[in-house]
Amino acid sequence: MTTPAWRQALNKSLDSNKHLKYSTFFQIATTRPDGRPANRTVAFRGFMDKTDRLTFTTDTRTQKTKDLNHKDWAEACWYFPDSREQYRLLGHLTLIGKDSSDKELSQERLKAWSECSETNRKWFSGPNPGKPKAETSDADHQDINVRSNEDPPVDSFALAVLDITEVDYVDLLKNVRDRHEPQSSGWNKIPVNP
Ligand SMILES: Cc1cc2nc3c(=O)[nH]c(=O)nc-3n(C[C@H](O)[C@H](O)[C@H](O)COP(=O)(O)O)c2cc1C
Repeated sequence: MTTPAWRQALNKSLDSNKHLKYSTFFQIATTRPDGRPANRTVAFRGFMDKTDRLTFTTDTRTQKTKDLNHKDWAEACWYFPDSREQYRLLGHLTLIGKDSSDKELSQERLKAWSECSETNRKWFSGPNPGKPKAETSDADHQDINVRSNEDPPVDSFALAVLDITEVDYVDLLKNVRDRHEPQSSGWNKIPVNP
């Protein structure tokens, strides 16, 4: 598989901004069932092995699950402050949860859990995200203890997979903007006006 030009650029941006702790965070937008937008920050968990599928981890109890059940389109927006580059990655977002029937993807979910930090596992073990605290009891915790990496993931742990269909890249320093579109023979890079 040849690495698409947008991904080569993204790898370079990740590398040149790696001294910034927050360079692996990006925003992912979805559409709420009533048509209003929703956006939030998530942490990049790499590309799935031998693919261009971008991943992050999430909790199926969050609002984004409802959004995606309604419409699976999502757009990631990633800004690298040092190199002053922006990537917008549009695509279909799938959550790989505990009931996934795809063996390979379920395996990827387990791998993602085994790589989760303690802070991350603490969030997943906790009570329903977004639920008012006043209505929350111990029973709302998925696991009253923080579940270890070696234990199976908590039920609501999901690997989110973005299948990218379009990339819009902006380099503010060079005043360059490129649109990348998939074609049967690979990706087509179209320079556009910034
Ligand atoms: C720096 C940072 C990193 C975050 N990383 C994640 C993440 O990787 N996955 C995730 O689901 N939420 C992450 N969150 C929390 C989300 O921004 C959001 O609050 C949560 O996913 C609920 O969103 P929703 O109700 O719109 O689905 C992060 C928040 C911050 C500030």
